[in-house]
Amino acid sequence: MAPPANNLLISCILFCCLIAVSEAEAQPSFRPKALILPVTKDPSTLQYLTQINQRTPLVPVKLALDLGGQYLWVDCEQGYVSSSYKPAPCGSAQCSLANSKSCTIACLPSPRPGCNNNTCGLMPENTVVTRTSPSGQFGQDVVSIQSTDGSNPGKIVKVPNFLFTCGATFLLDGLAKGVKGMAGLGRNKISMPSRFSAAFSFHRKFAVCLTAGKGAVFFGDGPYTESILGPEISRSLFYTPLVVSSGRNSPAGHEYFINLKSIRVNGERVSLGKDRIGLAKLSTTVPYALMETSVYRAFTEAYLKAAAANNLSGVPRVAGVGPFELCYNSVGIGSTRVGPAVPQIDLVLQSSNVYWRIFGANSMVQVKSGVLCLGFVDGGVNPRTAIVIGGHQVEDNLLQFDLAASRLGFSSSLLSRQTTCSNFNFTSTA
Ligand SMILES: *[C@@H]1O[C@H](CO)[C@@H](O)[C@H](O)[C@H]1NC(C)=O
Ligand SMILES: *[C@@H]1O[C@H](CO)[C@@H](O)[C@H](O)[C@H]1NC(C)=O
Ligand SMILES: *[C@@H]1O[C@H](CO)[C@@H](O)[C@H](O)[C@H]1NC(C)=O
Repeated sequence: MAPPANNLLISCILFCCLIAVSEAEAQPSFRPKALILPVTKDPSTLQYLTQINQRTPLVPVKLALDLGGQYLWVDCEQGYVSSSYKPAPCGSAQCSLANSKSCTIACLPSPRPGCNNNTCGLMPENTVVTRTSPSGQFGQDVVSIQSTDGSNPGKIVKVPNFLFTCGATFLLDGLAKGVKGMAGLGRNKISMPSRFSAAFSFHRKFAVCLTAGKGAVFFGDGPYTESILGPEISRSLFYTPLVVSSGRNSPAGHEYFINLKSIRVNGERVSLGKDRIGLAKLSTTVPYALMETSVYRAFTEAYLKAAAANNLSGVPRVAGVGPFELCYNSVGIGSTRVGPAVPQIDLVLQSSNVYWRIFGANSMVQVKSGVLCLGFVDGGVNPRTAIVIGGHQVEDNLLQFDLAASRLGFSSSLLSRQTTCSNFNFTSTA
């Protein structure tokens, strides 16, 4: 009688395994082409904010967008209630994916999300105020997010075990009101784009389209680029390699950098006394571009000259309004489809005919009624990169990050193609 009972037991184990597997895979029976997160701009902090549904039961969690951030982190100390939260046990596959070097053996008094025994940890960072928490437990929980066919919103899809890090309440200091964490889009295995790509077998691509109104982050590849770039002539993006660079704040090189040869103002090369500028970092947590002091001096000098000789000749300068130095009385400045009629700035990339053109809408900032300032800021004498390209400079530009090919696709101003980043149809059918 023994063998049949054993067989029964084995088939029961097999059967149970099958059930477990089919449950885990039941969700992606509908395969989205891409996913979309809406992004708004907080007017008081100038941070870009998004929202994702997480936990069981699902609750909306407001997050600050962090392009170079390593992963999703949320405050688990206050108000984190979920029946589906699972800590990542030390030595597990999740912990090695995260490259975690730390393990909490016992977290007392009682277990809760963010404080469990035998759980590996990471160091979540608020990159706006550069503050780190030493002990953020790694774990996973359900998230739900809207899918898209490229032009219209589609079904809401659930990812059952989405990896994230538990942050602490003090890490929220300096973030916009109501924000509970940061949405990290960095170039590593546990960032949000990587996890969504893994969950739905997407190409390892994502795109960011920010605007003063309602913009978006897209995960996956696909038809969204065509639908944003519009039906006319140019549906294409320009491409430049993404450069890996590691440093103090980014030992694993998860931030996004591109190589900058030179800067041109109205076609004239800014003279810097060296043959290339170096790295430019792309950031969504810096509101305006920062330039290393010597680059900033040479650039503003060239800009003043071009402005006086051409576009802004006769337009009176007015006192600088911090953090900007170069300000003009806007009454005399014309307007164009791509913003105020001011000198155009080209960031010259891998060769002289590949450049990112910055028009008035992305170079000038209306600081108050009647005053327009050049929206570039002196970043000090010894920053990590020569330039940080900030939020204002990328608004209404489509940026697509291709992690597998390690390249950035950029549109330059969508205004010149008669569209914006707020043209996406978010009106859901559901
Ligand atoms: C966690 O570890 C402590 C110390 O070893 C132990 O007293 C406690 O019961 C553990 N908690 C759980 C939930 O296992
Ligand atoms: C937006 O998308 C919804 C859902 O697909 C659709 O019903 C609606 O017509 C779309 N609106 C526009 C303006 O395209
Ligand atoms: C600024 O002046 C240059 C040189 O005259 C000209 O080529 C360019 O079209 C002008 N730009 C704008 C936005 O008016």
